[in-house]
Amino acid sequence: MEKKLSHLQQRREKTLLGGGEEKQQKQKEKGKKTARERLEQLLDPESFVEIGVFVQTDMEEASSLDIENPGEGVVTGYGTVNGKKVYVYAQDFTVAGGSLGERHAEKICRAMDLAAQSGAPLVGINDSGGARIQEGVHALNGYGEIFYRNTIYSGVIPQISVIMGPCAGGAVYSPALTDFVFMVEETGLMFITGPQVIKAVTGEEVTQEELGGALSHNQSSGVAHFMDENEDDCLERVKTLLDYLPPNNVEDPPPAEPEEPRLDREELVNLVPEGSNKGYDVRDIIKRVVDGSRFFEVQEKYAANAVVGFAHLGGQPVGVIGNQPSVMAGCLDIDSSDKISRFVRFCDSFHIPLVTFVDVPGYLPGVNQEWGGIIRHGAKLLYAYAEATVPQVTVILRKAYGGAYLAMNSRAMRADISLAWPTAEIAVMGPEGAVNIINRKEIENSGDPEKEKERLTSEYREKYANPYIAASRGWIDDVIDPRDTRYHLLRSLEAIYSKREKRLPRKHGNMPL
Ligand code: HXC
Repeated sequence: MEKKLSHLQQRREKTLLGGGEEKQQKQKEKGKKTARERLEQLLDPESFVEIGVFVQTDMEEASSLDIENPGEGVVTGYGTVNGKKVYVYAQDFTVAGGSLGERHAEKICRAMDLAAQSGAPLVGINDSGGARIQEGVHALNGYGEIFYRNTIYSGVIPQISVIMGPCAGGAVYSPALTDFVFMVEETGLMFITGPQVIKAVTGEEVTQEELGGALSHNQSSGVAHFMDENEDDCLERVKTLLDYLPPNNVEDPPPAEPEEPRLDREELVNLVPEGSNKGYDVRDIIKRVVDGSRFFEVQEKYAANAVVGFAHLGGQPVGVIGNQPSVMAGCLDIDSSDKISRFVRFCDSFHIPLVTFVDVPGYLPGVNQEWGGIIRHGAKLLYAYAEATVPQVTVILRKAYGGAYLAMNSRAMRADISLAWPTAEIAVMGPEGAVNIINRKEIENSGDPEKEKERLTSEYREKYANPYIAASRGWIDDVIDPRDTRYHLLRSLEAIYSKREKRLPRKHGNMPL
């Protein structure tokens, strides 16, 4: 027994060392932690339990101490984050560059299966040279097994990807299939084909960072949702996100201690410039309504004409969506439609109620938008809200015109409760466009067309766009004092939290993608 225990100890020590001290040192010189250090930082102290410690490709190595690829380049297991169970994997770049072979993939798949079966979120830390070249098609098949699981467990457990090293070629599709992608600046890289191939094929010259770094994917492509300067901040942010999420699709999101907003609600009456196109930051409204004035924004840098993120209302996690009038007047375009739709579908999958703040002049006009498929992308927004069955409350702050009024979770899309501020303007189109059509002759024939247009615009607002028209039909449930927005949201959510909604059975709908 003594001999066997000593052998076990030696094997374990060798495996835990990964690719060895020299390679770990190289990793640190790049500002990167080792796989196990990352898991230690993410999980509660002493909570990590490793599974598959001794997995090996080579059967001879499996019994000797002459281990070539300790742990097969990935550390897998489970632990807790703020007391809640989470399954994890972290690719170990010190072992064959974290490259993915057959056993490496099997270890990840096992963590995924256990996570789904036990209803716990999965966090994967990516740092890998991609498919292990020596393992050929076996490696490719391994990726396929992971992609399959990412897909079938989507909407069952939250899946989070953290990019802390290279993630290239087809390997990027696993993060892309997960719910949230975190990236670390400078070290986190994602691309299908790297700069050298691009130069050879298209002649374009670009650095790795410009092509697939954290900023590019957070700002331009929308592939990633969060970025941080370093690994510590990134892992802290992952923990914060997990605090808002339920462990799976059959358990409720975890409640927090209710808290009043820190920012003054009295200021709500002055934040929205009435009857004008002036911009303001919708986050100033959100923060005066939600618990502790804390808004955890998702995809902050992408399609900034819309904001999405998590907050608590009376201790209950909610998904918050808002048009952002300070960017492109808060209009809807292709990217913001995609951004909102995906967020709405995530919240709907995991019983997170939706609160939507509306101030939208319409869809962005333009040839690029039309040829880019604004019709198809804009339709996603209608589809996502119409499909959602979680509790939903909509608050119209100012403009709600045309198709965009419907798309931003109007009653027709099945918002449960629709509220409007007295500043709300709800109509087929904005006043300027409308008077040019219905009052064109009057304007042309008047002595002072500009003045006449101004008068008619103001008349239009009063006559056709005031919120009491929609309220008189019950499409707005109440017109409220802005300072009472939090009170109304709390009461509404309390009233509809237990709602149950049945739809006709179907395999799945065919969302316009
Ligand atoms: C096997 C690999 C490997 C790979 C790296 N290594 N990538 N081994 N298969 N794919 C090994 C190296 O040989 C080296 O081993 C160690 O990992 C560290 O690599 P270095 O090159 O020394 O590190 P660095 O200079 O930091 O460069 C990292 C890198 C580079 C940029 C990731 O290694 C690289 O370009 N690798 C290949 C990337 C790639 O093209 N992968 C295939 C993508 S396509 P030693 O023993 O010297 O330490 C793909 C298809 C997936 O993945 C399809 C899914 C559907």
